[in-house]
Parts: sequence; structure tokens; C-alpha cells
Amino acid sequence: MEPISFPQVKPPQPGQAVRVEVKGTLVAVFNVGGELRAIGEKCTHRGGPLEKGPVTGHVVTCPWHGSQFNLDTGEVVRGPATVPEPTFRVRIENNVLVVDAP
Ligand code: FES
Repeated sequence: MEPISFPQVKPPQPGQAVRVEVKGTLVAVFNVGGELRAIGEKCTHRGGPLEKGPVTGHVVTCPWHGSQFNLDTGEVVRGPATVPEPTFRVRIENNVLVVDAP
């Protein structure tokens, strides 16, 4: 794994999400009650923007057709999506957002 730093991106506050690009892959980073989680940003159904989806607990809902993904595992909680999202290790180091590229 290769850590990628994003000094230009403000880390998300609780309840917020940001989108970053990790080696050509869009990644959505969520702050869930003070803990960061990162999964693929494009919904595996038809590419909806998961960064903009509402989060309930540790589940994000795609704003386009309502697929739900677990932010801890990337697993599909509810369709129409059938393919899980990739997950990424994410953290703050010296106030800078860091995401591990697979
Ligand atoms: S694009 Fe996300 S549910 Fe269809």
C-alpha cells in the first residue's frame, strides 16, 4: 500500500464527506462520528456520487437510486447495486488527510 497525502483537502468534520482522487480512482472519505471511513466514490450501480449521499449510522445511501453501502466494509446493504465498493485505509497525519492506495 502506498500512502497518498492530500494537504490541500480539508479533512471532513463529523457528518461531512469529501472526495479525493487516489491514483485515478475517486474515493469518498466520510467522517462518521469522528472516525474516518473511505470507500469508492462512484456507486457501483450506475456511478452515482456517494460523497453526496446521506449517511445513517455506518451506511451511505446513493442519491440516484437508493443503493446502500456499508462504510466499514463496502458491502451492499440494499440494491439495486450488487457489487460492493472498494474500501481504503484513511487517517489524519499532522492535520493532513492520508489515504492508502491499494
Ligand atoms: S447509481 Fe447509485 S443506486 Fe443507481
